[in-house]
Amino acid sequence: MAIFPIRTFGDPVLSIKTKPVKRFDDPLRRLSEDMIETMYEAPGVGLAAPQIGVAKRMFVFDVGDGPEVMVNPKLVESSGAWEYQEGCLSVPGHYFLISRPAFARAIGQDLDGQPIEFAGDELLGRVLQHEIDHLDGRLLLTRLPPAQRSEVYSELQNPPSAR
Ligand code: NI
Repeated sequence: MAIFPIRTFGDPVLSIKTKPVKRFDDPLRRLSEDMIETMYEAPGVGLAAPQIGVAKRMFVFDVGDGPEVMVNPKLVESSGAWEYQEGCLSVPGHYFLISRPAFARAIGQDLDGQPIEFAGDELLGRVLQHEIDHLDGRLLLTRLPPAQRSEVYSELQNPPSAR
């Protein structure tokens, strides 16, 4: 297993809509192991492939029940609303109060290409939505109200240390 550097805000790979995984082979298995290792090392509760520079539609997560891998995930249901101080390994050191549906259900495939499903509220629901956003080229910043978003963007593009 290997630990990869995590791509951060401004890296173009984070804005790409990822390609579906078609081959469920050993390289995919190795990629998932590297992603899990990288997520634990960070540490984080979820990591999407673009965050290590791979524009493939897959992510890993662990909300406390052990590591899971979701390939070609699709959000199929969401409901309610929940505000949560959300962070992202690609925007290190920042947390944003973001409202999203409380409950989410996603379907996808496991590493053998078999159908899988995850559903839950609060942290699991949030992780599913956050990671699927990554696969569509969206960072959590895109979920902020427009005024706050532009403020945060200019702060990140011109951090105090660089002024
Ligand atoms: Ni993230």
